[in-house]
Amino acid sequence: MTGELSPIDKAKFAAAKRAANFVESGMRVGLGTGSTAAWLVRCLGEMVRDDGLKIRGVPTSTRTAELARQVGIEVITLDEAKWLDVTIDGADEFDADLNLIKGGGGALLQEKIVATASDQMIVIADAAKEVGQLGAFPLPVEVIPFGWQTTKALIEETLINLDVMGRDTTLRMNGDAPFVTDEGNFIVDMHLKRIGNARQLALVVNQIPGVVENGLFIDICDVVVIGHGDGKVEVRDINEGTVEEDRIDFLDNENLFADL
Ligand code: A5P
Repeated sequence: MTGELSPIDKAKFAAAKRAANFVESGMRVGLGTGSTAAWLVRCLGEMVRDDGLKIRGVPTSTRTAELARQVGIEVITLDEAKWLDVTIDGADEFDADLNLIKGGGGALLQEKIVATASDQMIVIADAAKEVGQLGAFPLPVEVIPFGWQTTKALIEETLINLDVMGRDTTLRMNGDAPFVTDEGNFIVDMHLKRIGNARQLALVVNQIPGVVENGLFIDICDVVVIGHGDGKVEVRDINEGTVEEDRIDFLDNENLFADL
């Protein structure tokens, strides 16, 4: 069955499966958004159904909420949870300090709120997401629809004084209409190519009226679990300074692939 999964999907699955081991009964868990996080939700659903795992999940998007309910995870709001034990989510890029670009799926606002409200954030990713310097992946900025063209122009003007290689910005589209986030906002993607000072960029962009939040996650992520297509996983903990290797056996997980 896993023969039908691409190596990249196997890598995402391996990372998600290993990260699911961080979750224990009684925990309030932030559930990320995207294709890697979807594997995590399926893995946790299986643990709930088959192993009696008792968790409450706070999803970071309507998509994730729907999937979590489908697989049998109890879904609560962040306001009900108030604080979370752990959030597990994907990323578009991560660097050696575990700073991230997120929001390729358009859910960066809820993702950032939920990750920040967690004792620990764990990123799950295939090895291709690791970069020496952030910025090749377009950095998403969530903006309110009112006056979005003015906000976009102000973002471009702000970029002139910042240490970045590219300064083009584009409104994210969904067919012929602007892409709309779960909060009813738009996304402006910044094509920066290389970000020299991510911390400064994140602060300065958020000062622009009309900007709700940007997809840079600085000092939020604690652990990254990197999956490979052959089942190998690497777990890096930035606080402990540890790196562990592990292996996921795809044959043990045939049930999870059966519904796909
Ligand atoms: C969603 O808004 C994003 O932040 C995702 O977490 C990120 O784009 C990674 O997605 P994939 O796991 O699908 O690559």
